[in-house]
Amino acid sequence: MTASATPPPNPLPSGADVDEVVVLDFGGQYSQLIARRVRECGVFSELLPHHVGADEVRRRNPKGIILSGGPASVYAPEAPPLDPALLEIGVPVLGICYGMQLLAKELGGRVESAEVGEYGRSQLTVHEHGTLLKGQPDEQPAWMSHRDTVYTPPEGAVALASSTSSPVAAFESAERRLYGIQYHPEVVHTPYGQQTLQTFLRDVCGCDLNWSAANIAEEQIRLIREQVGDGKVICALSGGVDSSVAALLVHQAIGDQLTCVFVDHGLLRKNEGEQVKKMFGEHFKVPLVVVDAKDRFLDRLSGLTDPEAKRKTIGTEFIRIFEEEALKLAAPAGDPGEAPADTDVEVSGEPSGGARFLVQGTLYSDVIESGGGTGAATIKSHHNVGGLPDDIEFELVEPLRALFKDEVRAVGTEIGLPERMVWRQPFPGPGLAIRIVGGVVTEEKLDILRECDAILQEEVRAAGLYRELWQSFCVLPDVRTVGVQGDERTYGYVVAVRAVTSDDAMTADWARLPYDLLDQVATRMVGEVRQVNRVVLDITSKPPGTIEWE
Ligand code: XMP
Repeated sequence: MTASATPPPNPLPSGADVDEVVVLDFGGQYSQLIARRVRECGVFSELLPHHVGADEVRRRNPKGIILSGGPASVYAPEAPPLDPALLEIGVPVLGICYGMQLLAKELGGRVESAEVGEYGRSQLTVHEHGTLLKGQPDEQPAWMSHRDTVYTPPEGAVALASSTSSPVAAFESAERRLYGIQYHPEVVHTPYGQQTLQTFLRDVCGCDLNWSAANIAEEQIRLIREQVGDGKVICALSGGVDSSVAALLVHQAIGDQLTCVFVDHGLLRKNEGEQVKKMFGEHFKVPLVVVDAKDRFLDRLSGLTDPEAKRKTIGTEFIRIFEEEALKLAAPAGDPGEAPADTDVEVSGEPSGGARFLVQGTLYSDVIESGGGTGAATIKSHHNVGGLPDDIEFELVEPLRALFKDEVRAVGTEIGLPERMVWRQPFPGPGLAIRIVGGVVTEEKLDILRECDAILQEEVRAAGLYRELWQSFCVLPDVRTVGVQGDERTYGYVVAVRAVTSDDAMTADWARLPYDLLDQVATRMVGEVRQVNRVVLDITSKPPGTIEWE
């Protein structure tokens, strides 16, 4: 196998003073999770494709290396190999599942395909605790997912444990500082997994367990200052968690050198635009350009019902407006640039010209996905602000590129972003337009949907369920039904309630909301929103449904 893709740049710029452990990804389902668990132990970790090569790993100056699991058999012709030079770097190596089998095969152990694979919960029996398993019970559950099995540990290594179907389920060679575990320490079904990782990091690699997402805020602020100097910076603010945290971090670093641009496309939820203006413009006093482009978007959407056509139109229009503002802000100070057509621009603070930098809320998951990976996961397309004009070039400022989503939330809390914003449920870029389905988007329908959505959010929050749900929202199909209200026949809209639980939006389950809550929501919607006379509940999971209806 050749190293085809360029490895992702280190998300922690040089100069960051933290211990790091590199996780090499052999295509395992849980590789990202290993990196996250290492971070939860208090050690910064990066996930790199397995083929990056020992030099790239050495450049990180890691205190240890973890080899992830993977779907291949070590004997398959296309099996990703272990680069022996990794073992010469001189730091401890822990192989997990496939990673363990690679170590065993490379170093004189015996690995063979077992008659019976071991999938799911298994029982681990510890015969020798060694360093890796010290302080752990002799019998413990562990999560397995393998067919190849290690029968003899590498030369000089001691077998520590066996399991129902694995004669060697863990080994260590203290002298060579090589460790292997067949089970998955990163999943919750392995109750002593996190302890095993912590022991490896602290007692084997000698790491300080002091890294946390929250305490890197200060570090990031220093690095932003270093990168930007006295340059001018712009940021597209959506009100979502990522752009809000990124903008606020940059503002704390360089103050009024930052100008945020908030494009209000009129497809937001009730009061959302006002909240962004209040929070950033008034409370945090970030120079803010608010572009009221409601009419422009409604105009472009007129006559459109096809979901893809709507998405494309909104995406293109959004980029066009942002471009217009970016061009103005990049122009030398004092040059007002061209005013965009059909928009109303409101400015607070003192945006200045000559911007050379652009803030993006890129997350570590985006970095991994664009870094050549191992092809383990199918990547969902992103809907961030994408294309920029050809004739201006910005240098990117990406203060979140080392962080996972939950870590971004921790940073947001640390730097004073209100709880309501830090824990905001995801909201799609095209906004309410993709929740008005089957008919054209009109101002009236947007208003109906906004009112119903506000009622749902209020009740979900009052029931204490907001944070438990991945998303909760309303959908307005182009359907009217007959009803009876106050002895009169009505012919009104149907509103659908959609609430789902999910970890990553790739799959989702419909949320079992309490009947009382549903009753209250339906009663209020029909009572308070004149045009609505029926409420239904969407009980489809994903797959086969998607979360949004369009
Ligand atoms: P689906 O509907 O594909 O949605 O199950 C998965 C997640 O993505 C969000 N979503 C979007 N987010 N721009 C976004 O920023 C979009 O065009 C978009 N479409 C869907 C959706 O809300 C859910 O969280």
